[in-house]
Amino acid sequence: MLTKLLEINQIGEERAGVLDIPEKYWPQPGQYMPCQHDSDPAAPLVTNLFRVIGTGDQLYLGPMPENWLPGDSIHILPPQGNGFSIPAAARRVGLLPFGVSPLRLLPLLKTTLMQNAALVLFWDAGQNHDILHRLPTVVEVAPTATLAENLDWLDYLAIDIALGDLPQLNSLLSIPELPFDGQLLIRTDMPCRGIGDCGVCAVKTTKGWQHACTDGPVFQLKELHHVAQ
Ligand code: FES
Repeated sequence: MLTKLLEINQIGEERAGVLDIPEKYWPQPGQYMPCQHDSDPAAPLVTNLFRVIGTGDQLYLGPMPENWLPGDSIHILPPQGNGFSIPAAARRVGLLPFGVSPLRLLPLLKTTLMQNAALVLFWDAGQNHDILHRLPTVVEVAPTATLAENLDWLDYLAIDIALGDLPQLNSLLSIPELPFDGQLLIRTDMPCRGIGDCGVCAVKTTKGWQHACTDGPVFQLKELHHVAQ
């Protein structure tokens, strides 16, 4: 499908854009949407965009490449992969953007607030006041290091992490058995989206090697906890 880039917003260090897409094609939080610029010779490959920002009713996708501008024509494919699903019974939810902006996790705010769950964003915001100002006041923000003290408090934890950072996550979640449900969005290159079976996106899990592009990019935390070397 060929569509138009309608608008770009700079949010913290990332760019988010609005594409003219019917709501039935909107990706769920954590799913990715393969997009390709119609005429950008510098970007011949697909760019995988994620749903970003928070509670608004407009679909924002990101992170947008620097040279994509409003009015540009973009080819899109339907949403791919598995997204997040917060258990309906979860009453204490944590979000952990691991060394990255929380933009890809913030779309989970809507579901969390609808089920009246308490929500803590474990994030070292630094000077990133732009994102902090966009958060509803019910969201508590706590330093990442405090997560280790709050593992018993959580019913559910959603994580956004680069594949190469999994060993560091294991250090943060150092207990052998996690007392809560969790899922993680694995960020890694996904050049073929499973079509070419290239294996670039391979992730080691308790079930063996899986592909982020088709089995993820959102995985169950218990399937990856203490698996990465
Ligand atoms: S991106 Fe090629 S198998 Fe996943």
